[in-house]
Amino acid sequence: MNDIKDFLQKIERIFEEEQFVHQPEELYAPIDYTLRLGGKRIRPTLLMVANAMFGGDESQVRDAAIGIETFHNFTLLHDDLMDRSPLRRGQPTVYRKWNENTAILSGDTMFALAWRYFLRQPSPRLREVLDCFNETAIEVCEGQQYDMNFEKRNLVGIDEYMLMIRKKTAVLLAGALKIGALYAGAPAADIERLYQFGIHMGLLFQLQDDLLDAYGDVAVFGKQTGQDIRDNKKTFLPLRALELANEAQKAELLSLFGTAGVECGEDEKVRRVLAVYDQVDVRRDVEKIIAQEDSAAIGFLEEIALPAERKKPLYEMMEMLKGRKK
Ligand code: IPE
Ligand code: IPE
Ligand code: MG
Ligand code: MG
Ligand code: MG
Repeated sequence: MNDIKDFLQKIERIFEEEQFVHQPEELYAPIDYTLRLGGKRIRPTLLMVANAMFGGDESQVRDAAIGIETFHNFTLLHDDLMDRSPLRRGQPTVYRKWNENTAILSGDTMFALAWRYFLRQPSPRLREVLDCFNETAIEVCEGQQYDMNFEKRNLVGIDEYMLMIRKKTAVLLAGALKIGALYAGAPAADIERLYQFGIHMGLLFQLQDDLLDAYGDVAVFGKQTGQDIRDNKKTFLPLRALELANEAQKAELLSLFGTAGVECGEDEKVRRVLAVYDQVDVRRDVEKIIAQEDSAAIGFLEEIALPAERKKPLYEMMEMLKGRKK
């Protein structure tokens, strides 16, 4: 079995070979820009690893891997517009480099292109693959809607937050694994374990993203930090900080999510919210829950009925993700 680095390299090569520019150029140039800016390529790599684990071969999932990454990148074009984010992968976001209409239309096209890639990849289980893909896409949109709804609410439960990130982020990692395993003809019980592994890996991944949004280094993370605070996102950080805070800290946070946060200006708002996070040491609690998701994920991975050697790349992927700074 190859190690995770080999899979990542294979995925890079696949993207280098693929042609994304067609006519009209105004539609396709932003698609090419986004897909060539790289990113970590986690989802296509998971898809390919899951396929290989169950004895599939690379040619069986090449187009599906491009499809899942194209879908992910579509969500980023729309997400950056919704979140008003200026930076992605260290470069201007599509709606900033071009305009909002471009982010909408090139994004829509990427969603349809993703379908085309999946349809190009024949399999006796294609129906199940497409069903999984489509249900995943619907859940991602549901998650994104909760994410937007929560911007306007101050009282959001941690359980509501966990459901939101499960939908907007975790189901896509889980879906990528499931699709890869379906193409390889894996047994249903193992597919379910793999899916649950992916869910917990995805929850861990989004919790880290929320932590990096507050504490990351822009030059490495590639996204503007403090964006979630600017947007009043109800990530684990403010929700848990409100639970840990004393009355004065709580009042400070709630006022910063309201008019005080507008009046003092965005940079000052970020600075003051981070100050409360530090006072209550919310970071420690995020790290604790990340560790819980890690062991839940590994628990499901251990249950998969394959020799340890076959599962090695997924263990390596978990290690990579846990150490990530971008
Ligand atoms: C960004 O995903 C969106 C989230 C779910 C946090 P990634 O962090 O995988 O983005 P890229 O593709 O590596 O840039
Ligand atoms: C990502 O959530 C979820 C989707 C893109 C579907 P975020 O809004 O936190 O992602 P980033 O931080 O912009 O990458
Ligand atoms: Mg965003
Ligand atoms: Mg978002
Ligand atoms: Mg984020």
